Amino acid sequence: MTSIDDLPTTPSEQADPRGDAGIRPRGVLGKLPRYAAGKPPVVVEGLESFKLSSNENPLPPLPAVLEAIAAETSINRYPDPLTTALRTELAAHLGVPATDIVTGAGSLGALNQILATFAGQNDFDAPDEVVYAWRSFEAYPISVGLAGAAGVQVPVRADGTHDLEAMARAVTDRTRVVLLCTPNNPTGPILTRDEVVGFLAQVPAHVVVVIDEAYQEFVRRDDAVDGIELYREYPNVIVLRTFSKAHGLAGLRVGYSVAQQGLTEHLRVSAVPFAVSQVAEHAAVTSLRHIGEVGARVQSIVDERTRVVEGLRDLGWTVPEAEGNFVWLALGEHTQDFAARAAEHALSVRAFGSEGVRVSIGEEAANSRFLELCGEYSHRPAAG
Ligand SMILES: Cc1ncc(COP(=O)(O)O)c(C=O)c1O
Repeated sequence: MTSIDDLPTTPSEQADPRGDAGIRPRGVLGKLPRYAAGKPPVVVEGLESFKLSSNENPLPPLPAVLEAIAAETSINRYPDPLTTALRTELAAHLGVPATDIVTGAGSLGALNQILATFAGQNDFDAPDEVVYAWRSFEAYPISVGLAGAAGVQVPVRADGTHDLEAMARAVTDRTRVVLLCTPNNPTGPILTRDEVVGFLAQVPAHVVVVIDEAYQEFVRRDDAVDGIELYREYPNVIVLRTFSKAHGLAGLRVGYSVAQQGLTEHLRVSAVPFAVSQVAEHAAVTSLRHIGEVGARVQSIVDERTRVVEGLRDLGWTVPEAEGNFVWLALGEHTQDFAARAAEHALSVRAFGSEGVRVSIGEEAANSRFLELCGEYSHRPAAG
């Protein structure tokens, strides 16, 4: 297990080299990793470029969504701070009370509200602890650190799954929040309902358990956890969902959390006012009203995912369960080399140090080119 306190400091923590006004950022900023956004498509002459580095939906927004966006002309006005239309639509869609939904600028915005509300410096100035699996979504260490809390990272198992036993053991009397990511970005596997129920039984009821389901619509396993089902039973569960992935609205920044009112009443206090624009709200409402078309598009991505995973396994590559819109290649020391080779083929992928490469499921032609590249590449990902 590692904590944010173990991370090396960077120059922002050291003396101001220019010796000017003496303005310093909070010390924690020097300890935070930088969020590395997915690289833009690589330009190679004669080849169409594809971006497979940010787990985006490769399909354009639905025509009805584009029309809804174009119809939003009152942008000289502030949006509805309560996102009433969206929460009402979501409430019907999910079968939950609208009061249980809190929206944010993407699910990352909703996560930041949760951390600002429940984890930071406690009354004795010691940092609260937030437990999460690692490697997982790379924004977690930054969001946790900015909240003023200490991150406690519990390594994922060799097959890319959360080690829930170790995570339960990592919970101390300073733990305020646990983050579960299912399917886990970047490794891909889900958590099952039974696993999460077993975990909740081991965690004190005052610890908030966030179930981050950013890729929920792509999951096809029947035994996968459904956070919406669990939050009804567990007052300490908060579910995170987003319009960025299945709905293809990453650029508009709409996400939300679902929890019982005992938690949402506090979340509303820390919510950034007007975080969701009326353009984003209208697009999200329209997308929900065309959920059948959204589902068909998601299924086409899932079909491509199946083709990619089977193609890789046919090549003899070890790939963990892939239940999101991406695959994980545990290439170890060959990680950067593989990413460079992908760039030569006009594919941008996400390389994580010397751990592995995450490749988003993209357009059919992009996936085919990726498989061809893997067919030519001599180093295989490590077996789980
Ligand atoms: C696991 C996970 N959670 C949350 C997010 C944030 O998504 P957004 O803020 O676009 O809703 C992402 C984005 O990649 C993610 O992978």
